[in-house]
Amino acid sequence: MADDTVLALLSEINGIASNAWKDQRQSLLTTTRSLVAALEAEDFDDQQQSKGEDNALTDKAWMFCMSPVGHAAAISAWQCGLLVKPWPRPVMTATELAAWLSPKQTVDPLLIGRLLRVLQLYGVFEEIAEDTFRHTPLSTRLSLTQDGSAAIGKTCHRLAMGVRGINGLPAYLTTFGYINPGDTPSLFQWSNRTELDLFRHMAGESGGSQLAAFHKTMVTAFEASRSAAGGRTALDQFPLQAMAEAAITRANTINSPAFTIVDVGGGYGHVLTALRASLPSDLASRGRFVLEDLAESLGNVPESVADKRSGIELQPYDFLAETQPIVGADVYIFRHILHDWFDTACRTILQSTVQVMSLASSKILLVEEVMPAVGASAWTTLIDVNLMSYGGMNRTLRQWEALVAFAGLRVAKVWPAVGSDQVLELVTDERSLTGMTAK
Ligand SMILES: C[S@@+](CC[C@H](N)C(=O)[O-])C[C@H]1O[C@@H](n2cnc3c(N)ncnc32)[C@H](O)[C@@H]1O
Repeated sequence: MADDTVLALLSEINGIASNAWKDQRQSLLTTTRSLVAALEAEDFDDQQQSKGEDNALTDKAWMFCMSPVGHAAAISAWQCGLLVKPWPRPVMTATELAAWLSPKQTVDPLLIGRLLRVLQLYGVFEEIAEDTFRHTPLSTRLSLTQDGSAAIGKTCHRLAMGVRGINGLPAYLTTFGYINPGDTPSLFQWSNRTELDLFRHMAGESGGSQLAAFHKTMVTAFEASRSAAGGRTALDQFPLQAMAEAAITRANTINSPAFTIVDVGGGYGHVLTALRASLPSDLASRGRFVLEDLAESLGNVPESVADKRSGIELQPYDFLAETQPIVGADVYIFRHILHDWFDTACRTILQSTVQVMSLASSKILLVEEVMPAVGASAWTTLIDVNLMSYGGMNRTLRQWEALVAFAGLRVAKVWPAVGSDQVLELVTDERSLTGMTAK
């Protein structure tokens, strides 16, 4: 006999479903999840549990605790070519799948069946008969295309590889105490027995090929997020053109640049290139566009950016060790930089630029995800703990405000989100600068 909660939820679902359900898909999903949770709870019985009998909640607990197994199965499926779309036929047996994959390598049907049986528990593929499976919306969403080019699949694959180190988190926290990772070695440094941070480590690995692969992924991720947002990025909201026009009006000579834009930690220059291209060419030609990154990164930027005709100047700069070399620029962009670092490192990074900012005209544009204080998405919260392995974190607006204040800055404006990015426009906080001088 269904209990009151289940009956109430069923009637709510009935109500939603009979009213233009397409508009209410989200509330239908939320209520359906509550219904599943209520049914699982009703199925749960402590006595059954102590006898080791199966029920829905115990199954769910197993899936949760053993989720590294699902993850390992997904990575294996990506690697052997099983998690690609489309399959040659919509419904395939493990034997057929193994034969299809075999031209690439020797694939055992027994192994394929075992991997698929785990994946279908998570809704990744569906088991429709003994050793017979088909794609589901979720497996399709996670799939690489045959040529490996699907952005979502690539991102998932990259993240899946990246999170492997997170398995060391419990041991790391036992060793260092349950404090938010910061000035202690990061999980990455501790488990790799290195003093180098992630980027320096990648720069030194296999002749820098890991860092080069990382930068290419950043370019792909930028293009993918831009195309998902209809060709826009969060930075496009900033009135760059008006700023450039005003600077040109103020400039008293046409020989020197009228304005300067610096992309700090700009990788392969994809963001700066897009920004420059967004300006009419007569305005762009009056600006100085400086791409800063580690020397190891700039040594491999694509020819189209390295070429002087790109209008982009390359400036090697280590933001943890050096003072910002470009003094008094109009805009310093920090896109996806600070989320990689703990608070005291962020303060070092920001202060080395704050020192050279013009009080009257320089701004910092921080392009980052602003984590909602409540109800953050799965993506945001999972990435937050993934970033923890390198010492970074996703921050709420309150945390961003406190962080920048720590470096003598204040948030002058928060631009609306485009995709998952927001632009925080930062200016030097005269009050704290006066305070610093007074000391
Ligand atoms: C997450 S990526 C962001 C790249 C780019 N801003 C974007 O939005 O795609 C972080 C960048 O910081 C750079 N970086 C890391 N450590 C650095 C350091 N000490 N000094 C300067 N750049 C650094 C990396 O090389 C990389 O380009």
